[in-house]
Amino acid sequence: MSIGRIGLIIGMIFTLFSCVETENAKIQAGEIFKDTDGNPINAHGGGILLHEGTYYWYGEIKQGETWRVPYLEWECYRCKAGGVNCYSSKDLVNWKNEGVALTAVKADTTHDLHTSKVIERPKVIYNDKTQKFVMWMHIDSEDYQYARAGVAISDNPQGPYTYIQSMRPNGAMSRDLTLFKDEDGKAYHFYSSENNKTMHVSLLNDEYTAPSGTFKRILEMESREAPAVWKHEGKYYMISSGCTGWSPNPAQISICDSVMGNWKTVYDPCVGQNSKKTYFSQSTYVLPNPNRKGEYIYMGDRWNKTNLEDSRYVWLPLTFENGKAKIEWQKEWSID
Ligand code: GAL
Repeated sequence: MSIGRIGLIIGMIFTLFSCVETENAKIQAGEIFKDTDGNPINAHGGGILLHEGTYYWYGEIKQGETWRVPYLEWECYRCKAGGVNCYSSKDLVNWKNEGVALTAVKADTTHDLHTSKVIERPKVIYNDKTQKFVMWMHIDSEDYQYARAGVAISDNPQGPYTYIQSMRPNGAMSRDLTLFKDEDGKAYHFYSSENNKTMHVSLLNDEYTAPSGTFKRILEMESREAPAVWKHEGKYYMISSGCTGWSPNPAQISICDSVMGNWKTVYDPCVGQNSKKTYFSQSTYVLPNPNRKGEYIYMGDRWNKTNLEDSRYVWLPLTFENGKAKIEWQKEWSID
C-alpha cells in the first residue's frame, strides 16, 4: 500500500473518531444547553419521559421580561406563563426541538393557561391502558394563592396536549409537584401542600388524569418542595429542596420502602464546595443513567430570578456509595 493511501486511511479513521466525539458531547453543568439547531433549550422545571427508546424532555417556557410582583412581600419574580416545550433525544445529550407541547392561552384571562398565570414543573407519564400521554403541572395565579394541579393529555409524546382541568387534589393545595410511575403501572402525584409545609402523595386513577382518592400526608411540617422521585434497589427515593423561592438551599434525600409508606428525610446527598446550595440549583427530576447501571442523573434548575429566561440547567451524576446517594459537582462530564 502506498504511503499516500495509508495517510488517507488514517485520516478517515481520525475523521470518524472526531465525528463520534462531536455527537457524544459532554454535559456542561450550569451552562446553557443547546438544542440540535444551536438554540438555547427552554424547558425549565422539567421532567423526562422515556418512550420507545426516545427521551422526551418537557419543561416550562420562560421567555421575555422578568418582573417582581409589587404587592407581595416575598421575592415573587415572574415572567409571562409561556406554556410547555418538548425536546427529544436518543442519547440525553443531543436534543431536538419538538416545539410547544402545551400552548399558553392569550385571549381568555380566566383560563388556567392564560399568560398572566403560572404554569410550572410539567411532568409527563404514559398510560399503557388508554395509550395517552398524561401531563401534570403546577397551575397558579401570579400571587401563588390558586395552588392547583393541572392535567393535560395527548395521543403523541410531543403533543399537542389538550388541557383537561385543574384541581386541588384531595381538597388540598398543590404547588411544586412530580409524578412517579411504578413498575406495577400505578402512578402517583407528589405535591407540596398545606402552604408548602407538608407534602402529599396521591395515587392517581387508572387513567392517570385525576386523584384516585387514596393519598397520604408525608414529610409533615418539613417544608419541602421541588420533589423528584425514583426507585433504587427496591427502595423509593426523593430529592427535594427547602422553601426559599428561586434561591438555592440544601437538598435532602427522603427514603421509603413503599410509595405510600412513612417517608423519612435522611441526609443531604451533595458534597464539597457549594453543596449547601445544591451547587446553585434546585431539583426537578432524577432519571437512571442508561449507560451506568445503578447510577442516576440529577436534573436541577439554576434559576436566574431577575432574568428567568436566562436560567440554566445543572445536571450531575447521582451515584450510590455504600448504599448512600451522593451528588458531586462536575463542571463537565460524560454520561457514557
Ligand atoms: C420555588 C419553586 C419554583 C417556583 C418558585 C416561585 O420555590 O420551586 O417552581 O414556584 O418557587 O418563587
